[in-house]
Amino acid sequence: MNRTLVIIKPDGVQRGLVGEILGRLERRGLHFVAAELRSLDEATAARHYAEHVGRDYYDNLVRFITSGPVMVLVVEGPQDTWRVVRTMMGTTNPLDSAPGTIRGDLATVMAQNLIHGSDSAESALREIEIFFPHLDS
Ligand code: TYD
Ligand code: MG
Repeated sequence: MNRTLVIIKPDGVQRGLVGEILGRLERRGLHFVAAELRSLDEATAARHYAEHVGRDYYDNLVRFITSGPVMVLVVEGPQDTWRVVRTMMGTTNPLDSAPGTIRGDLATVMAQNLIHGSDSAESALREIEIFFPHLDS
């Protein structure tokens, strides 16, 4: 799988970090196959975050991701692109994220950790289908 889904979350758009984050991905050698600034509705957010239903943070998560515009992208690279992006993102909790990662350099709070990236090849396929169902392969 050489494509993955990336979302720059509302905090990233709000803070003016879209260029910073996309620049990092581009400098790494990844390409954008699709990109759109969107406001997510609750149904789309719920579908995207289906695996988190029932967690104590779920309501906050959906409220946050639907709270303002997000930048949604399909990112392509030579191989295991989802893994390249995940490594660049840093750990889920920015408190633990290494310097040099997006979260480790730019975020401090788990609920506002700037970026989503698919966590496996299967997730990438599923998530790309949610946000860009008509994308040509
Ligand atoms: P998760 O998929 O576990 O993390 P990642 O974004 O690194 O793939 O969780 C999705 C989002 O849910 C995460 O980015 C932030 C939020 N979240 C919390 O607010 N609290 C938590 O304890 C967890 C695990 C996640
Ligand atoms: Mg995840």
